[in-house]
Amino acid sequence: MISEGRIDEAVKRLFSGIEFQAEPAGLYDPLRYMIEIGGKRLRPRLCLTTYGIYADELTPEVLEPAAGLEVFHTFTLIHDDIMDRSPLRRGHDTVWKKWSEDTAILSGDVMCIDAYKRIAKAPKAVLGEALDLFSKTAAEVCDGQQLDMDFEKRDDVTMSEYMNMIGLKTGVLLACSAQMGALIAGAGKPSQEAIYEYGYYLGLAFQVADDYLDAYGDEKVFGKPIGGDILNCKKSWLTVKAAEKGAVGLTEALNDTTLPPAEKIARVKAIYDSVDIVSEAKKAISDLSTRAVFKGTDAAMGAEEHEALKQFAHALVGRTM
Ligand code: IPE
Ligand code: IPE
Ligand code: MG
Ligand code: MG
Ligand code: MG
Repeated sequence: MISEGRIDEAVKRLFSGIEFQAEPAGLYDPLRYMIEIGGKRLRPRLCLTTYGIYADELTPEVLEPAAGLEVFHTFTLIHDDIMDRSPLRRGHDTVWKKWSEDTAILSGDVMCIDAYKRIAKAPKAVLGEALDLFSKTAAEVCDGQQLDMDFEKRDDVTMSEYMNMIGLKTGVLLACSAQMGALIAGAGKPSQEAIYEYGYYLGLAFQVADDYLDAYGDEKVFGKPIGGDILNCKKSWLTVKAAEKGAVGLTEALNDTTLPPAEKIARVKAIYDSVDIVSEAKKAISDLSTRAVFKGTDAAMGAEEHEALKQFAHALVGRTM
């Protein structure tokens, strides 16, 4: 078992010392920038936490793939910000805003390749499985991102369609991060599968929380503009749930192209409030996180390991409660 303190320490060292090719600077500077401006480093933390349940020593064979998961995640953010026209990320200008869309596309591409190089440092004995897991996940994230965009143009997205979409765009990468740690630590298949499910449900809880914070968070803490999902006609958890609860005027407000942005955000939030969406969202986040811990606890796991899963889930959703 590896303590949370040692994992924190390792994650800090990993990203303060991370290196990317120097030249051409126009291609690699955005990679350095995105890592330097921070982020919660959830995916590598999750990978090292599940690794630490089955192993005792942090070695480059797990640290490099853990870094690869963060690099891949950060690449998806660079492209996501072009797609969502988002000007702010981690409290700073997005890459497409600071440089250009062309730069964001190509720097994103090379960042994805960099992620593969790091995943490929997994131990020889599990390398094939690690690459299969990662490639399957990476393709699924694209599937989810496409559905997310398709849903912008629809007004009849159901909760099960929404859950499937966020499972793909967000759930599978947390699931993959969790399983990667267990796989590299040499855990058996049933344990790996339980840990994958744990990560998947954590990812669902996390995306619902992200949707909630997009409307109700504090920009200084969230690091992204509040109301972006509303302005983009995203079918967020809030939208889908409010529609399910029969919120009056929601579709009209979301599709209104005449309202100034601040007014549109206020109008949609007033409709959300009319169906008590905040307490609904908090309950959903808490239920999904409880489900995650339930799914992840396999019979072979001791009390201390179970507690580590619980703690991680608690910290992950803590920012919304
Ligand atoms: C943002 O992820 C994208 C989602 C899946 C909601 P994070 O909230 O983990 O972003 P950083 O890495 O901390 O900036
Ligand atoms: C992001 O979903 C999922 C991926 C980046 C794959 P969002 O579009 O909600 O993420 P944020 O809110 O921009 O971080
Ligand atoms: Mg998006
Ligand atoms: Mg986005
Ligand atoms: Mg979001």
